[in-house]
Amino acid sequence: MKSTVIAIDGPAGAGKTTLAKLLAERLGLLYIDTGAMYRSLTWKILQLGINFNNKDLVIDLSRKVDIILRPNGKDLKIFINGDEVTDLIRTPEVTENTFYVAQIKEVREEMVKKQRSFVKENRVIMEGRDIGTVVFPEADKKIYLDAQLSERVNRRFKEFKAKGFEYTTSKIEQELAERDKKDKTRLYGPLKIADDAVYLDTTNLNIPEMVEEALRVINS
Ligand code: DC
Repeated sequence: MKSTVIAIDGPAGAGKTTLAKLLAERLGLLYIDTGAMYRSLTWKILQLGINFNNKDLVIDLSRKVDIILRPNGKDLKIFINGDEVTDLIRTPEVTENTFYVAQIKEVREEMVKKQRSFVKENRVIMEGRDIGTVVFPEADKKIYLDAQLSERVNRRFKEFKAKGFEYTTSKIEQELAERDKKDKTRLYGPLKIADDAVYLDTTNLNIPEMVEEALRVINS
């Protein structure tokens, strides 16, 4: 059976997770959140008290950990070495420190290997930063999802408010802008638009409109 891969890349807050989950449900695809893998490793490093600058230890750990993304209805349950970290990897502390591991070449190689192993005989939709450029340059369809920073800030603000987190929009804007810069400028696996990706700006689209646009791309 030929495997099918749909790659969704883009900056934080562009709508990747919302879109990927809805498309997975609609098209019967396995949903894979690659950011959750970098986050899980970051959580483990924080838990073990390892210094992020100790590159050798971080690389060694990335090769040893067992990261599992288990489908749970429309969502995923995330485990690292048997610990469930689904919610624990969404804290500001993890978010702020993930760039340390995501910039290391050997760590990325290890994550990419794991990401490729998920596909084998599955039809998958995978979201991240380097899916269409590095992980699956041969993906069947590639979408680069984007939105203006101000709109991404609004979306994050609403999400945080719903979860009971108190953040000002200026703090969120600063965090997203910093993350964009780090994701786009790192040496290995930077966030960029693959030559053959379709660029979708969701700034002025609601969720059903975004799904409709993406389906148009996938069916084209
Ligand atoms: O998608 P996310 O916000 O959960 O990702 C968290 C961080 O992980 C992101 O800022 C950069 C990193 N990441 C990455 O380097 N490569 C990926 N394929 C996915 C995420």
